[in-house]
Amino acid sequence: MEAAEEMAAGTAVELTEAIRRRRMQRSFSDAAVDGGVLDSLLATALRAPSAGFSQGVDLLVLEEPASRALFWSCASDRAWRDGDGARALLAAPVVVVPVADPDAYVARYAAPDKATSGLAGRPAERWDVPYWTVDASFVVMQLLLAVTDAGLGALFFRLHGDPDALLAAFGAPRGRQVVGAVAIGHAAAAGHSRTRDRRRRPADEVVHRDRW
Ligand SMILES: Cc1cc2nc3c(=O)[nH]c(=O)nc-3n(C[C@H](O)[C@H](O)[C@H](O)COP(=O)(O)O)c2cc1C
Repeated sequence: MEAAEEMAAGTAVELTEAIRRRRMQRSFSDAAVDGGVLDSLLATALRAPSAGFSQGVDLLVLEEPASRALFWSCASDRAWRDGDGARALLAAPVVVVPVADPDAYVARYAAPDKATSGLAGRPAERWDVPYWTVDASFVVMQLLLAVTDAGLGALFFRLHGDPDALLAAFGAPRGRQVVGAVAIGHAAAAGHSRTRDRRRRPADEVVHRDRW
């Protein structure tokens, strides 16, 4: 059995239950995430679908305190970091940064088996739907669900700051897209969404059957 399967079997949370339970967690204890568990989470995330099986999404995984400090200095404002509200999020012992490579998709769709896709030779800025963003989003979603399944918490959040400066700080190649980042750790109390007062749109308002 693979590690991810073992973890899923051990925690025995059904998919629907994990989806129902998942909430963005904004408050973490500083307890470490077990290395084997983290490996399993990453492996599960990387089983996501990928357009043309291009697999142009890399994961920058930050665990060392110095790496996380560098990340936060590139990805947040100093005033926010110094405020009380930031402490619970900054405590997260793991930050995962999905990094997508538009060029990998442009190259993949230039291959002979994609000749009829209508995307061959199309530069990244002219794709109607940027598949690299879609793929990175799928990876993030699977990561969030795997985290829930493992009994941990996670927050997907937008970066404040220059993504190219972040990539350069970690020695990542240029020209990559950073869709955001995922903080992972053991949930501390009262870490849920600030937007809870917004109602979830009911299915009969959102779902348009046969006609809008
Ligand atoms: C694209 C995207 C960007 C988000 N950015 C942030 C963010 O920067 N900070 C944050 O606290 N939450 C962020 N969120 C989390 C949403 O606020 C959250 O998913 C929403 O309020 C619903 O709550 P739930 O995920 O707990 O069900 C983001 C979610 C998505 C999908």
